Amino acid sequence: MDKIVIEGRRPLVGKIPISGAKNSAIKLMAASLLTDGELRLDNMPNLADTRFMADLLRRLGAIVERPEPHTMTLQVPEVVSALAPYDLVRKMRATFNVLGPLLAREGHAKVSLPGGCAIGARPVDLHLQVLKALGAHIDLHEGYVYAQAPRGLSGGRIAFPMVSVGATEHALLAAVLAKGETVIENAAREPEITDLAECLNAMGAKISGLGTSTLTLQGVDRLLGTTHSVVPDRIETGTYAIAAAITGGDVELVNTRTDLLTAFLDKLRAAGVTITQTQGGFRVQADATQLRAVDVETAPYPGFPTDLQAQFMALMTVANGESHISETIFENRFLHAPELMRLGADIHVQGPVATVRGVRTLEGAPVMATDLRASVSLVLAGLVAEGKTTVNRVYHLDRGFENLEEKLTGCGAQIERMKESQTQEA
Ligand code: EPZ
Repeated sequence: MDKIVIEGRRPLVGKIPISGAKNSAIKLMAASLLTDGELRLDNMPNLADTRFMADLLRRLGAIVERPEPHTMTLQVPEVVSALAPYDLVRKMRATFNVLGPLLAREGHAKVSLPGGCAIGARPVDLHLQVLKALGAHIDLHEGYVYAQAPRGLSGGRIAFPMVSVGATEHALLAAVLAKGETVIENAAREPEITDLAECLNAMGAKISGLGTSTLTLQGVDRLLGTTHSVVPDRIETGTYAIAAAITGGDVELVNTRTDLLTAFLDKLRAAGVTITQTQGGFRVQADATQLRAVDVETAPYPGFPTDLQAQFMALMTVANGESHISETIFENRFLHAPELMRLGADIHVQGPVATVRGVRTLEGAPVMATDLRASVSLVLAGLVAEGKTTVNRVYHLDRGFENLEEKLTGCGAQIERMKESQTQEA
């Protein structure tokens, strides 16, 4: 298995281009199932997760092409199968979101339940609640969801008991073609949801309330193809902002927006990092010896994103003072803490709160993590650690960070990938 090897303690200086958001791209791809027209997605990242989704969509009848490196076209002239099998859904949970569009277009679908994952149980009860509220009949058998709506879906009221990104997206993807009006209350407000709603509206949907917690849809008979540019990846943006800060660097992040991560940038400023708006993004400057401890608590958007919690913890391991990091979204999302401790970090986890006491230096070591954001937090720690850090199980990083090594080496980091063959020899 590939490894990433980092020689730390080099300040990053330069520019890093930000890619389109993974978590938007894969839901936008699912929207292609709702029309026989062509959906053209620009600013499309090239990641393992977008490839998983393309594999599944091809099996369902999509023609998926990449005419340019950051453009993807998708067209589903007809759905050839309404079955999303376990072997594909288990690789990436978000493929579960094809259930709603398949049901909307075909009147039936069979989709594998995704199962839990390292960061938590991650049930899909709210997704199923959505489909039932729209009139679908749902049965669970042998690990599969069997959904039926032979006379089509009809609009309904969906009041979520808790905020869910995936279930809100699923509600949009299922209700656009339902008969009549659908109201979604307590909807998630993440920028990726607004991105999906904007794309669906460009395809002919009638969704209002974008960016608020109440979304209203007037069902339409048909959607058409369109061209849409994927919103910048706010999690990739925040990750590289921390890479600049933790190394005491000076980096401009381009093709991104500060308004996508206000709560996060407020915390970064409180930690002593200077953020300056630029034409195509923003600049991050820090003095690594002056970083201050700051408490954070994850929350649904516009709060501090859970997908940046591990990276912020890496920053806090070398800040002056004691910080408290509370994880409120997932029940098991501190898997990076013991690995950061292998590098010399002082972290004490108690339930949903991690207490981090900043240390003067981290020291390189072999580490590995079991999810994407945890893995990249180890890369960040490796950038500031003395000596060599080897990050194992790199395939997690390939799911969500496009050209990670190139982007970091472009700013002076010493980081390289060792292919499996090289690691066997080593
Ligand atoms: C999305 O996951 C993201 N994934 C996650 O990013 C992100 O961490 C999460 O939203 C929160 O921002 C994608 O967009 C592909 P949720 P999602 O439904 O939609 C519980 C990454 O690293 N819940 O908002 O699965 C759930 O268990 C990934 O890129 C239910 O109880 O998240 C969790 O505790 C990791 N029942 C909470 O809600 C349900 O039916 C929020 O989950 C659905 C969710």
